[in-house]
Amino acid sequence: MDQTELLKAVNAIRWAHRIDLGGGIITPGDWNTPEILLRLQLPQDLSGQTVLDIACWDGFYSFAAEQRGAERVLATDSFIWQGGQKEGFLLAQRVLQSKVEEAEIDVLDLSPERVGVFDVVLFLGVLYHMKHPMLALERAASVTKRLLIVETVVDLRLPGKALAFYPGSELGRDETNWFGPTPAAVEGMLRAVGFSRVERVWPSAGRLRLWRALSLFGSKAVKRAVFHAYR
Ligand SMILES: C[S@@+](CC[C@H](N)C(=O)[O-])C[C@H]1O[C@@H](n2cnc3c(N)ncnc32)[C@H](O)[C@@H]1O
Repeated sequence: MDQTELLKAVNAIRWAHRIDLGGGIITPGDWNTPEILLRLQLPQDLSGQTVLDIACWDGFYSFAAEQRGAERVLATDSFIWQGGQKEGFLLAQRVLQSKVEEAEIDVLDLSPERVGVFDVVLFLGVLYHMKHPMLALERAASVTKRLLIVETVVDLRLPGKALAFYPGSELGRDETNWFGPTPAAVEGMLRAVGFSRVERVWPSAGRLRLWRALSLFGSKAVKRAVFHAYR
């Protein structure tokens, strides 16, 4: 495919992710930025590691893991791919000549028998979409050998280890958003599904205190946080 054809193909797709396809072509999604990649603290060197990207959408993080040397990457999704939005992933995979593997599978169907187990598992932007968040984390834990990275919405309005429930479309006008846990709830849930060490890597304690304080004065109380959970 030449650059003109590639540009035409890129422009025909509704992208979520900004993926650098080379030759000056970057897909026009708006979700992931270099800043978010830093926040995730995805290891710079993944050589020799196997990586599972659960609910990958266009696959930005899968391709990033491959570019960081991962030995095997499996990209999975179901909801958005089954809704007809898999072309982005497939095009990027082809253009990048990527060896990232793919499986169309629901989070709740993940198991060692179905997909195997992986050194590093990415669970990014998924937890709050789950109607059964503990079950989803159990499934993610079941396929994690060493490190699970969770990026999620956190709701700072509630105290302690509480979860806000969004039965309608109150979070982001999106009916597929169900729960916003507090940061302490996410940590507790990760321990409850079997991780021995859980660290919040974003935001820092100081920034979290600031967010909480500002939320009392009307600033947005639903934020995003990143956790690393180790076996
Ligand atoms: C907010 S997007 C996050 C995409 C990507 N992980 C990221 O961080 O940019 C949520 C993703 O979860 C997927 N998803 C939602 N429910 C799912 C389910 N039950 N099983 C598998 N994927 C699901 C959607 O298809 C979508 O790709």
